[in-house]
Amino acid sequence: MNRVLGFLFLLGLSSIAFAEEKFDSHLPRPLILEYPETHETQLKGLDYDELQLQCSSWRFAVEANNLNPWKTTPPECADYVKDYMTSKAYTFDLERVSIEAGTYARSLQLTGDGMDAWIFDIDETLLSNLPYYTDHGFGLEVFDGREFDKWVEKAAAPAIESSSQLYKDVLGLGFKVFLLTGRSEKQRSVTVENLRNARFQDWDKLILRALEDHGKTATLYKSERRSEMVKEGYRILGNSGDQWSDLLGYTISNRSFKLPNPMYYIP
Ligand SMILES: *[C@@H]1O[C@H](CO)[C@@H](O)[C@H](O)[C@H]1NC(C)=O
Repeated sequence: MNRVLGFLFLLGLSSIAFAEEKFDSHLPRPLILEYPETHETQLKGLDYDELQLQCSSWRFAVEANNLNPWKTTPPECADYVKDYMTSKAYTFDLERVSIEAGTYARSLQLTGDGMDAWIFDIDETLLSNLPYYTDHGFGLEVFDGREFDKWVEKAAAPAIESSSQLYKDVLGLGFKVFLLTGRSEKQRSVTVENLRNARFQDWDKLILRALEDHGKTATLYKSERRSEMVKEGYRILGNSGDQWSDLLGYTISNRSFKLPNPMYYIP
């Protein structure tokens, strides 16, 4: 029990340290400092089964948005997160979200005036950066914005297949599709290239972070953009994203669909 409390206590401590840090403009993760050394040693004595349960509990808290802001995956859960991300568990979780979103989308009676909208985030929602994170510890490593930007420049992120299906479905139903990403405006052309490589097409608008958005949390930036859509008369009926900051804030969608992502957290 002491180890468990130590684990939770240190998670708490790390979030206090986190609150004082500035975020880098590089996305899709804030720049982060060294993780406290003590954290790693506290969980070392746990046996395999107990550690699996602790890590599973941690992941559940991530997905339910119960965790305080976090910087990296717990070092003790490195293997757990890797196994999850590279197994069918992650794929099935993604598929579940798309299936439920599709069922909801089909249940709506669209007006046919072209003002019904569905928003998709890009990274870890339409495109998978798993090839990058495979080389960078699946969220265990301190995020390196410059390295990540080099990966983005390759325009090589594969499509998340279940999201491709949902994307086609909502377009087919007559939704306007808006892509709302934390990527920078500077990355517009490479993002378009990557989306095309991954066979995404026919979006209505691709919205990236402008210069004046760089100091903002994703929650604020995305809320502002959604608000503009609503002012233009759009009805935002669905929103798909892997971060709660894609979905929360103000002017939220009628329904939000949270895709799994235990690798990083964006406020
Ligand atoms: C979406 O939400 C708004 C505001 O709550 C509501 O007026 C509208 O009927 C909802 N639309 C659908 C299709 O559920």
